[in-house]
Amino acid sequence: MKVAVIGTGHVGLITSATMAYLGHDVIGNDLDEEKIVMLQRGQAPFFEPGLTELLEETLGSGKLRFSFDSQEAIRDADVVFICVGTPPKASGEANLIAVESAAKDVARYAGGRVVVVEKSTVPAGTSARVRRTLERERPDFIDKFSVVSNPEFLREGSGIRDSLEPDRILVGAESPEAFEVMREIYAPLVDKGAKLVETNIETAELSKHACNAFLAMKISYMNALARLCERSGGDVDSVAEVMGSDERIGSAFLNAGLGYGGYCFPKDLQAFERLASRLGYDFGLLKEVERINDEAVDATADKIIDVLWNLDGKRVTLLGLSFKPDTDDVRFAPALALGRKLQAEGATVVGYDPQAMANAKSEMPELEVASDPYTAAAGSHCLVLCTEWAEFKTLDLDRLKQAMAYPLVVDGRNMFEPEEMEKRGFSYYPTGRSPIV
Ligand code: UGA
Repeated sequence: MKVAVIGTGHVGLITSATMAYLGHDVIGNDLDEEKIVMLQRGQAPFFEPGLTELLEETLGSGKLRFSFDSQEAIRDADVVFICVGTPPKASGEANLIAVESAAKDVARYAGGRVVVVEKSTVPAGTSARVRRTLERERPDFIDKFSVVSNPEFLREGSGIRDSLEPDRILVGAESPEAFEVMREIYAPLVDKGAKLVETNIETAELSKHACNAFLAMKISYMNALARLCERSGGDVDSVAEVMGSDERIGSAFLNAGLGYGGYCFPKDLQAFERLASRLGYDFGLLKEVERINDEAVDATADKIIDVLWNLDGKRVTLLGLSFKPDTDDVRFAPALALGRKLQAEGATVVGYDPQAMANAKSEMPELEVASDPYTAAAGSHCLVLCTEWAEFKTLDLDRLKQAMAYPLVVDGRNMFEPEEMEKRGFSYYPTGRSPIV
């Protein structure tokens, strides 16, 4: 099928490349001319494992092209995926102006029948707005447009695998014809066993927010338990193991630590809560999930202050700056929230990250960065593990300790082995587990 993808952020670019890989003829479109030029040369604008290779393959086969000309992208498309940003407004609500503008472009440039697919995360009810926009802008074409909600469930860092081996593909549509087109789009995955769930549009829109909010709730539940474990002598990782072996609970997303960040959970939770409130329902549970998430960073900052006493004149090293491993994304990264708190208390904060250093520096210019973990730890009074990158598992702990002024480690992701830390002579402060002092 002929596919246009509007927006080349994480979701849009991975959608473009994977749709092309599945055999469709894809044009990726973005307003950012510089980005399009980069993409035409096969350069990914962000770090995502496997993306450069997939771009090379699909650009090389001619299945994927990029254009900043919306008309060129849209005019022959059977399906247009809207993958534009939906950033939070000051109120927490999603700003849908880019979705409206993409819908207007589709109305303006559509050359024939077209299925307009919302892939960006949007509040329930958006499809009706998209349909109204299409109808207003192109009244003569009303019966040519179908609107579909097909939320994306990919994670940064494993986006390609999540797209090609999805747990489920969710399609909410308003007509049998639109379902038929979406079945054809996803046939290569469904033929290999992927589960296709078909619902009405509002259910699909709501399900996306429901999944993200539920996952965030699991994390906050564990972080609340971590606070309890720290006060009672329990061990949150063991509690997670016990809970996770109950298949009704499931073992994923039970890791306590510095909490969730990134561009999805924090903003989606707020948008979901705002949507509920607009619909007249007080979804207080979501506010509590957010509060506990903020508390996870505060509790870690308090622990560091407790261990170091005054932070003025002290140096604190943050290992890992991205919001999670395998991405260079630092948006709403707990590491940076923690760094800002420590700086406000007078500490000099120095960070190291395998991929996210440039982004961290532009988000937080006053952050010192170092070219490797050992340089970052030099003269440090406390080292905080903020993001569990695999390379931190194989650090030379003796070398790290030698570099530091005080051998103090706060583990915001419970990545290190307590026995090992004790053996190496560190004072070790994990999350929700007993410290070794
Ligand atoms: C999340 C969802 O997992 C995807 O299904 C969804 O498609 C995506 O949002 C989206 O809406 O676009 P992502 O934000 O890439 O994906 O990251 P996750 O892997 O879900 O991690 C989110 C945060 O939770 C990270 O900061 C991570 O460190 C934290 N986390 C995760 C925990 O603190 N504990 C856990 O047990 C798991």
